Amino acid sequence: MSRIPEATIQEIRSRADIVGLVSRYVELKQAGRNWKGLCPFHNEKTPSFNVNPDRQIFHCFGCQEGGDVVGFLMKHEGLTFPEAARQLAGELGIEIPEEHGAGDRGRTAKLFEANDAAQDLYREALREPEGKPARDYLVSRGFDGKAADRFGLGFAPDRWDAVAERLRRKRIAGEIGAEAGLLAQRKSGSGHYDRLRGRLTFPIRDVRGRLIGFGGRALAADQEPKYLNTPESPIFQKRQSFYGYPDALEPIRRAGRVILCEGYFDQIAFARAGLGEALATCGTALTPDHASQLRRRTKEVVLVFDGDAAGQQATEKALAVLLPSGLRVRAALIPGGGDPDDYLRAHGDDALRRLVDEAPDALELVIRNALRQGASTPDQKADAVAHVAPLIARVADAVSRDEYARRLAMAVGASESAVATIVRKAARNDAQAPQVDGEDLGLARGRRDVPEERQLRALARLCLQRPELIGDETALRLQDILPEGAWKAIVLLLVEAAADGLVGPGGVDAFAIESRLDEETTRRLREISIDDTPIDSERTADQVLDDLIGWFEGRRLAARERELKRRMRDPGEDHEALLAERHALLLERRARMGVGRASASRAAGDSRVDTVSTAPGLDS
Ligand code: UTP
Ligand code: MN
Repeated sequence: MSRIPEATIQEIRSRADIVGLVSRYVELKQAGRNWKGLCPFHNEKTPSFNVNPDRQIFHCFGCQEGGDVVGFLMKHEGLTFPEAARQLAGELGIEIPEEHGAGDRGRTAKLFEANDAAQDLYREALREPEGKPARDYLVSRGFDGKAADRFGLGFAPDRWDAVAERLRRKRIAGEIGAEAGLLAQRKSGSGHYDRLRGRLTFPIRDVRGRLIGFGGRALAADQEPKYLNTPESPIFQKRQSFYGYPDALEPIRRAGRVILCEGYFDQIAFARAGLGEALATCGTALTPDHASQLRRRTKEVVLVFDGDAAGQQATEKALAVLLPSGLRVRAALIPGGGDPDDYLRAHGDDALRRLVDEAPDALELVIRNALRQGASTPDQKADAVAHVAPLIARVADAVSRDEYARRLAMAVGASESAVATIVRKAARNDAQAPQVDGEDLGLARGRRDVPEERQLRALARLCLQRPELIGDETALRLQDILPEGAWKAIVLLLVEAAADGLVGPGGVDAFAIESRLDEETTRRLREISIDDTPIDSERTADQVLDDLIGWFEGRRLAARERELKRRMRDPGEDHEALLAERHALLLERRARMGVGRASASRAAGDSRVDTVSTAPGLDS
């Protein structure tokens, strides 16, 4: 895809309305200068998702996702940067100057073109005499011509060169057909042949309705494998593709849920029964990419897999992938062991709908199934708990997780504390599980220096908003007294950017310096950019700056003093020299205390607890 000029991206950023864009997906309420809502990127009950219209950015204090308008659209809709930028440009009527040449965009468009040509051929062939086996097969499965049309079903002719020939006629190169997966390279010499032959075809589309691949079902008993799909390609990534798009999008919004199944025919069965919110995976296991895509569109997933042992296993696997994203998951097991399509044909629309509506909570179902092996002997109890605990460990919400653990304990007849221990252990051994149990949090907190972090943050915000306060001399002082780390890097960069003139009405232009930062630093910069609490409403910015500098100097002195004491205890050290150093330190300290008292008296009577009025002290 050709590059979008930086100036155009700037224009998109400045003209887009980030509050309006986010409001399409998230209910926002104004809170000060920011707008707040429930984060669409993680599961939460109290809003920590902030949008700042002045800076045109969003940031979630819960999951740390954040960025600008383009970033929001990328993350929310699963688009690439150029795709998101182009969509916004289109909406804003901003023209993107196209660079001509063999860009990726041209190539991607060609792949879609090749798939469209194949789809035309497949659908035509279904009506031709050669399509009779497919038509007969469809009739045997309850489809007439109209139903076949509705789902875009087709027939891949039982020839080696039907698609190859069609592409040639449309002047689409064989290499393009091969890259799209429609054709395969001949083993001997050059040329390509059709990959899908003598099969019923299912078109697989992306959310925007573009044809990304095909599924092909065998028609003859001896045809192997039963389903052959076109392979992965630059436009077909199976780990994030679903069968059923884009038609399912509107029903998903309306129903507030996704029905997830495993087969093309099953997805169609749901749609025909009036459950348009069904999606199927494309011949692969469910991945975390799938899960986050679902999470963006819904809160609830109903798994309806085959009713046999394999289906039950698949249900547990899918559950393990879905739970960490915070989705509520229910699961139906088809009575009699068939699949949704069999069930629809045997029992009708209403029965299938009821099965979905009444599907029990998936974890409850897993617990119930685990008990079927028996749970009377100690070993059986241990097995049942060992089987279910890893799934419970993946539940995103801590309250629900505890509740499931409690129910498992009850169901098995084990103590709650024993089950809780096993769930915690399972969580620790599992990178996908949310690491939130008490011990982990405590450790993380203990390592961080909370007051220092707070002061660094306040200083960085001051440098961001009022860069003109930081003269050259102050900049040099900061260089000396700030502890090494990401905050120091941010402060110095802000000072530098201000000196370079990268300043707008709200202070330093954060976007202008993002390219100089790594991911972690960018995240923090965004965090302070969106923080709209006043730095200090009672003191002037100069006073706040003075106090902050005083605080860091005090800290540095205290650290030097500790180091000195440590060395005094060492008999190998030159104690004369150490005493002299200590004297110098005391003088410095006394001089500084004057400053400290002055600011302490300024702060006297100020009962508010805020970031910078905390009195700086040598022992802190
Ligand atoms: P099933 O074997 O359960 O088939 O495969 P099904 O969907 O019930 O198909 P029918 O009703 O017999 O026609 C479920 C899904 O697994 C993938 C396909 O996506 C299929 O829809 N699959 C199956 C393959 O990719 N390859 C195979 O060989 C078999
Ligand atoms: Mn089936």
